[in-house]
Amino acid sequence: MNAPLFAVGGPELPQERRVVTEIPGPASRELLGRRQRSVARGVSHVLPVFITAAGGGVLVDADGNSLIDFGSGIAVVSAGNAAPAVVERVSEQAARFTHTCFMVTPYEGYVAVCEELAARTPGSHEKRSALFNSGAEAVENAVKIARHASGRQAVIAFDHAYHGRTNLTMALTAKNMPYKQGFGPFAGEIYRAPMAYPLRWPGGPEACRAQALDVITGMIHAQVGEQNVAAVLIEPIQGEGGFIVPPPGFLAGLADWCRSNGIILIADEIQTGFCRTGQWFACEHEGVVPDLITTAKGIADGLPLAAVTGRAELMDAVHVGGLGGTFGGNPVACAAALGTIDTMAAADLAGRARHIGDVMLPRLTKLAGASPCIGDVRGRGAMIAVEIVKPGGTEPDPVLAGTVAKACHLAGLVVLTCGTFGSVLRFLPPLVIGDALLEEGLSILEDAFAAL
Ligand SMILES: Cc1ncc(COP(=O)(O)O)c(C=O)c1O
Repeated sequence: MNAPLFAVGGPELPQERRVVTEIPGPASRELLGRRQRSVARGVSHVLPVFITAAGGGVLVDADGNSLIDFGSGIAVVSAGNAAPAVVERVSEQAARFTHTCFMVTPYEGYVAVCEELAARTPGSHEKRSALFNSGAEAVENAVKIARHASGRQAVIAFDHAYHGRTNLTMALTAKNMPYKQGFGPFAGEIYRAPMAYPLRWPGGPEACRAQALDVITGMIHAQVGEQNVAAVLIEPIQGEGGFIVPPPGFLAGLADWCRSNGIILIADEIQTGFCRTGQWFACEHEGVVPDLITTAKGIADGLPLAAVTGRAELMDAVHVGGLGGTFGGNPVACAAALGTIDTMAAADLAGRARHIGDVMLPRLTKLAGASPCIGDVRGRGAMIAVEIVKPGGTEPDPVLAGTVAKACHLAGLVVLTCGTFGSVLRFLPPLVIGDALLEEGLSILEDAFAAL
């Protein structure tokens, strides 16, 4: 048999951790040199290894190391890297045609993705969708649609929010460094409200829901005026801002208040969507039906695709030609999305996400009991985090979070940090990861804390 022309990934890759060189090994180091000479410094990376194949729960690098993946390319390859149904549909579509521009001559894949979005997003009302290339672009378009449909301009975003890096989404994103520093001026008519962040709520976690709703609605009334607000934009669980899970009832209370004031609720489910939290969409945990919902990341197993889905009357308020873009809803990306959605439904990956949470949370809670530097364990399904603090309080400790992450990387476990203060270790394994790798990854993490 001939040797394969290229490294084959997908679920057939041996599901094992294998560290055969130092991290990074010589092949990755050589590529890093080329990277430094050709790639702009502003584009960073977490781990200095170059990947040649990936699948299931592992990433294989140019030196033959096989790393356990607790990152999923930032919550993207939920269905597993190079998932067979995705590879098959993408290959078939790429061989037929790669682009026409949906705005020039349409094709079925785009329509089929919009049908899936209508069927799977919360609410049984009539919906429409529009497809884009990135999460930021979806958020920008959700704001455009909300402003157009409401005839109002103000948009409310939250502390710790992350919505992207384009001009409008930088304005919506809360954290300055590295996302906004030096990139202003930012778009106007954006107002920031405090977030219901139980660990850091001044009145304590018990009071957080009711007090946060009072403070937010009071602030909007006094500083903006409800009648001027087009939309409230919120991540049901904040992602980059630190995996902040608002208290039960907060989202529903906010949704009720929006409805009674004619304000459009936009749920940014770009990180939480597509089974990540144990439901198709995180709003479902709270029984909340947003007016508009933005998706990207997990929708297409890594191919660039994003969407705005929402009430037909809002989406269709925009004039013909008012939405679109050359590449939005590219046919190959749509084929990937259809393969991803098939895989998620057939393998019940939402159930699998709940199982991952059931495995991770008890072990992390036990670890927190033994590690005074873990101030909080939180998340839902396969979107779980620990927040690192100075023992005895809630002061964030980003240095220690970085030390633990580095130790994990050197041992062959990919973990990411996040949070406004950089003090949160977050875990986002592919939903197809096997239990043995999941447990091994947790053991590496425990060892990293034990070695502090
Ligand atoms: C909640 C949320 N919104 C928007 C974005 C921006 O998406 P993209 O990086 O695809 O532009 C992200 C990315 O991390 C996100 O997590």
